[in-house]
Amino acid sequence: CGIVGYIGQNDTKEILLNGLEKLEYRGYDSAGIAMLNEHGLNLFKVKGRIATLKENVDQDVHATMGIGHTRWATHGEPSESNAHPHKSTSERFTLVHNGVIENYQDLKREYLEGINFVSETDTEVIVQLIEKFYDKHQDTAEAFRQVMGLLKGSYAIALIDQEDQDTLYVAKNKSPLLVGLGDGFNVVASDAMATLKVTDQYLEIYDQEIVLVSRNFVEVQKLDGAVVERKPYTAQIDASDIEKGTYPHFMLKEIDEQPIVMRKIMKEYQNDNNDLKLDATIRQAMKAADRIYIIAAGTSYHAGLVGKEFIEKLAKIPVEVHVASEFSYNMPLLSEKPLFVFISQSGETADSRAVLVKIKEMGHPALTITNVPGSTLSREADYTLHLHAGPEIAVASTKAYTAQIAVLAILAVDTARAKGIELDFDPMQELAIVANAMEVLTAQKETIEQITRNYLATTRNAFFIGRSTDFNVSLEGALKLKEISYIQAEGFAGGELKHGTIALIEKGTPVIALATQENVNYSIRGNVQEVVARGANAMVISMKGLEQDDDAFVLPQVHELLTPLVSVVPLQLLAYYAALHRDCDVDKPRNLAKSVTVE
Ligand code: G6P
Repeated sequence: CGIVGYIGQNDTKEILLNGLEKLEYRGYDSAGIAMLNEHGLNLFKVKGRIATLKENVDQDVHATMGIGHTRWATHGEPSESNAHPHKSTSERFTLVHNGVIENYQDLKREYLEGINFVSETDTEVIVQLIEKFYDKHQDTAEAFRQVMGLLKGSYAIALIDQEDQDTLYVAKNKSPLLVGLGDGFNVVASDAMATLKVTDQYLEIYDQEIVLVSRNFVEVQKLDGAVVERKPYTAQIDASDIEKGTYPHFMLKEIDEQPIVMRKIMKEYQNDNNDLKLDATIRQAMKAADRIYIIAAGTSYHAGLVGKEFIEKLAKIPVEVHVASEFSYNMPLLSEKPLFVFISQSGETADSRAVLVKIKEMGHPALTITNVPGSTLSREADYTLHLHAGPEIAVASTKAYTAQIAVLAILAVDTARAKGIELDFDPMQELAIVANAMEVLTAQKETIEQITRNYLATTRNAFFIGRSTDFNVSLEGALKLKEISYIQAEGFAGGELKHGTIALIEKGTPVIALATQENVNYSIRGNVQEVVARGANAMVISMKGLEQDDDAFVLPQVHELLTPLVSVVPLQLLAYYAALHRDCDVDKPRNLAKSVTVE
């Protein structure tokens, strides 16, 4: 979910609605805003997108303070009553919340007996508690502080009080939250992108802090009331990066940006002598590790699988790759000197953060590889490597995946060199070849669109197969297709299919095989024959030099370690066109959110 708040002199609804549009990537099943003015509370909520909310907000309401929310449902289905903001029974207090309150049932039982709840959310418990504590203390700030002290779980909260139209009450624990500073106004947002139009000056808020935000003043406090001094920083996002421009969808724009991102990474990770430029402390940490644990979710997990190959093959350090949500609760036996590498586009994924908190408690070092250097995972790890991919807006990740792989390759080579391992692999030279190859691929959209029509037009399911690193990419190809076209898809190791899953192959089942690795070229083609013999509508995407006559698509040649960077591009485009043909919402697929800040 995403939250935004404003207090100033200008039209609040404009600022809140614009802000929420920029936060839609965090969830978009319902939304709402609440504003206070001389008539009291003005509350608008809808099931659906910000566009629907816009249509439902009374344009005649003028206010100079308010809060807004866009939701990704956790407790309670998407509906108007479960949409935020939520108000207390007397309507005096209204709040928005991002996160999950783990003890809300206990709090409800202990403090809120007899209160009539209108929603099924954990959030309504917070606002009712604030009213209850206000009745006791007759002081909103005190009630707010006390209630925050009772909450267990994750939250970014903004509260407004009808009787005090000069303050936004804000708090944070585990969920992201920033306070933006302006001249005669201040804002609150889950992400600086939401309010970049009005300010680029931001205060980071840490866990278990409370902030009192008025028009001319911001005070950060600890839960015990102690005041915290903090300097603002300038948000380094280019406003044009978060616009679609002439593209019909962010996803297509971001696919096309991949060659630019490769070149940007090459520039950022190279010094004037053409040597790799990485923080010496990261090099030391990599060298000192006897085993690396990569922790990630979704697409970032798939990038981690490719990264494992680089680090093991080049730097000769054993690597385990784990899905964050599993690692937290089922930790493997760790080596003596582990280094944890968190891969996360957003740097906010709660599943990954839960692992980071745990391994920090255990005293292990952590490196975060992220697209958002000021993010929670970046701040809380010992080291950060930046992806330099520019804001990724489409929910389905594309350029962040390839950026992660490129940065992992550079990290692996840097570590190998630091360990004195001789390599026959120059990452910058090879990435330059990759960038050119990506350009060739993104210029072949019509061909890929035609292939999509031939293979995926009407199907309900599809298989992606590959061996070795092609298997890693087939997992990502399947995920892309599932996410945005809702075609049931599975990525499979070519040789494993025959041990069960081949039972699903029927006449016409699409099977997309990757053949970019010389040592398995023969065997993957054998696997293709096996599915063809059972009626599959199979096609091969191969690498130049390994191609055969009837391959559907041939990729330009790149170094065999870096093939994922190019083989994924046609798979991204296949998913894009499949979604388009099915009239799906490419950038905002159903049920998903780009940044999942709940475990
Ligand atoms: C969400 C997104 C996925 C993404 C995953 C991890 O589930 O829908 O596209 O891969 O989170 O996100 P991260 O920001 O940690 O890379």
